[in-house]
Amino acid sequence: MEKKKFRKIGILSSGGDAPGMSAVIKSVTCSAIARGVEVVGIIGGYAGLINEDIRPLSIMDVSGIIAQGGTYLKSARCNEFKYEEGMQKAIATCKKFDIDGIVAIGGDGTFRGATDLSIRGVPCIGIPGTIDNDITATDYTIGYDTAMNTIVRIGDQLRDTSESHARCCVMEVMGRDAGYIAIETGIALNAVGVALIETPFDKEALFEKIIKMRELGQRSFMVIVAEGLGTEFGEALTKEIEERTGVESRFVRPAHIVRGGTPTLRDRSLAGVMGDKAVDLLLNGVSDVVICSRKNQIVATDIKYALIVDRMFKNKLKDGDLDAFSAEELESMKALCEERRAYFNDMYDIMKTIGC
Ligand code: F6P
Repeated sequence: MEKKKFRKIGILSSGGDAPGMSAVIKSVTCSAIARGVEVVGIIGGYAGLINEDIRPLSIMDVSGIIAQGGTYLKSARCNEFKYEEGMQKAIATCKKFDIDGIVAIGGDGTFRGATDLSIRGVPCIGIPGTIDNDITATDYTIGYDTAMNTIVRIGDQLRDTSESHARCCVMEVMGRDAGYIAIETGIALNAVGVALIETPFDKEALFEKIIKMRELGQRSFMVIVAEGLGTEFGEALTKEIEERTGVESRFVRPAHIVRGGTPTLRDRSLAGVMGDKAVDLLLNGVSDVVICSRKNQIVATDIKYALIVDRMFKNKLKDGDLDAFSAEELESMKALCEERRAYFNDMYDIMKTIGC
């Protein structure tokens, strides 16, 4: 088959925004223009494709955006795009604006959209942009590092006031159903306890440790709770800590504050590398893949594989989900899930040993 000639590609960001999305937009734009391909920005995610909100992007348009928080192309979660009618409108827009392919930045919902378009003849490549780091196929998502650094800054400030007042601070952190942010920031903030979905939470051990450390003279404590445990969990735990240990406690939820801010070096550099790789692959005829970082290598993973391995890890597989995969692929999926489980178990053990 003759290789498709790409003259113009589109970029969009969709789902929850993440610091570093603008850096990806810059990387994709510059990489495509350097290869002689025009670029258009699709405003507001898939909704922009349905509503024909399309703007040409030049190198000058994106030259100052690498350090911008949020996303230069705006974002939204688009319900209409989940249905055939919406998708057909999006495809018609691609035809009307001569968009030969799309780079879509976001999380699993974004990749589902990218795969839907790819199989209907609009080649798409996904780039993982979400603070949650909840794309099992990649070790890191863009935005994760920045969000964690913001949480660590907030946590240090909370520690200051907790120390003055001899209190325990329970902080709930975002991450949707994933505990990556919780466990990593828990270790970085010297939390005495971390509660997350991926490992059983040893509440009694937490109370015992707080009591012991208070007897030794420790004034302040930090406990991190993953948002996936539900809105009531953190507040209820705060009350229980106070009742069971006698340590005055406060509950804090920084929520969307951690989604903003200028991206860290790590997120900017990942954005640069992944954006360039996505353009390179797209122009070379590859589509329906997500760019992943695996053991310090940048690789392309089939979107279907990425979505299903996510479900496997979260124990949310549906009937028939695994039918399309070879024995070798199934093995690698299982191994990847084991790797992620081992990560959470190891990190939880470390936190329990060193956190105080
Ligand atoms: O996926 C990013 C995220 O910030 C999650 O951590 C959180 O659960 C969710 O988005 C919040 O969504 P919204 O911005 O729609 O309130």
